[in-house]
Amino acid sequence: MDRIIVRGGERLEGTIPIGGAKNSVLKLMAATTLAEGDYLFHNVPRISDVAWMAELLETMGMTVGWVGDHDLSIGHGPDLVPEAPYELVEKMRASIVVLGPLLARYGRATVAMPGGDDFGSRPIDMHLQSLEDLGAVIEAEHGNIVASTDGLRGAAILLEFPSVGATENALMAAVLAKGTTTIDNAAREPEIADLAALLNRMGGNVVGAGTSTITIEGADRLEAVEHTVVPDRIEAASYLAAVGVAGGEVILEGARHDHMAILCQKLGQMGMRISPDTNGIWAMCRKRLTSIDISTLPYPGLATDYLPLCVAMLAAADGVGIVTENLFAGRFKYVDELARMGADIRTESHHAVVRGVDRLSGAPVRCHDIRAGAALLVAGLGAEGETVLSDVHHIDRGYDDIVAKLSAVGASIVRRDD
Ligand code: UD1
Repeated sequence: MDRIIVRGGERLEGTIPIGGAKNSVLKLMAATTLAEGDYLFHNVPRISDVAWMAELLETMGMTVGWVGDHDLSIGHGPDLVPEAPYELVEKMRASIVVLGPLLARYGRATVAMPGGDDFGSRPIDMHLQSLEDLGAVIEAEHGNIVASTDGLRGAAILLEFPSVGATENALMAAVLAKGTTTIDNAAREPEIADLAALLNRMGGNVVGAGTSTITIEGADRLEAVEHTVVPDRIEAASYLAAVGVAGGEVILEGARHDHMAILCQKLGQMGMRISPDTNGIWAMCRKRLTSIDISTLPYPGLATDYLPLCVAMLAAADGVGIVTENLFAGRFKYVDELARMGADIRTESHHAVVRGVDRLSGAPVRCHDIRAGAALLVAGLGAEGETVLSDVHHIDRGYDDIVAKLSAVGASIVRRDD
């Protein structure tokens, strides 16, 4: 059982390299099912979600291998079996995004129904509806989604909500559909724009990704290419939160300020200094943070994934912050763990009231999901004494070597296997 042990009180000074975005690379990997050939991705984080997506592609008959530290090669040969088994989908819900591209390329796909996860039920009705709009026939059989088509056709898709996953599934299916597709009320995340950039490089014709309306002209065939993954704004946000809590001055090398402008503005209101820098983002914090109110919204609003990090910052800030989670119900489980560190937080439905305390105190805490784990780690950097995090496999899903990156800028942090 690996644990991460953090001793609070050290300021952070130096440069932290930001890797490729987890929430992009998983979809880019899924997109390789669209065309045979050899792909090479640069700036790929060494995280367990990437390993699981690799395993899923290998199960289907593809070959995946690391080339050097952060380059990943993927080979798509002629013998792909378009099936995603439960053992892998259960581990990682994001694997549902193979459904659209498999269906578009092979005319059929069987993907295990993803279950719930640690922050509430996560339906996939919009994914399925948009594929049906494109001409898919979808049935549920023995816990699997079985989709088939005699040829996808372009359609006008209107999403009820700008779902990231539904936009990606629809986009990857439409890119090989016959004719024109529009996706309205599409999600606008930088990771969607990154996926569209890959698809265009492969020979697709996608216009408007990153805005609410995406137009796709179906291509007859696509080809394998090389692509560099967009930087991970949530990883960058985690290190911003770390500086906010611990104090110090860092450069987040490779991070994109324009992808996280609202978060940077909010952290500025809390008392941090943050600016775009030629190498990424520069951030400084020299005093105790001031509380503000925060609510999550689809991009470009404040991402739901930032919220646990913001709550960790508010927990020891000066004042009271009201926090509202608008995307996922039940995403406040980590609050009980923060309370073990002395945080004063009351939750009611999708709101939390965070009364900042002078200083948190280190305690043994358990990670419930990726971002909750990162938030507890961040809280530990400012706490008095030692914080011992268990179930750190959740952190490994989304953070490439967080212990080494933080200790390189002066944090007192170690990983122990005992
Ligand atoms: C992605 C991100 C996740 C992030 C989330 C929102 C990945 C791997 N994960 O998740 O980190 O927190 O975007 O920015 O990229 N919904 C439905 N029906 C659907 C689809 C979604 O009701 O068919 C609801 C969800 O329950 C949720 C909301 O829509 O309330 C947003 O979900 P969505 O944007 O789809 O998130 P994911 O793509 O699952």
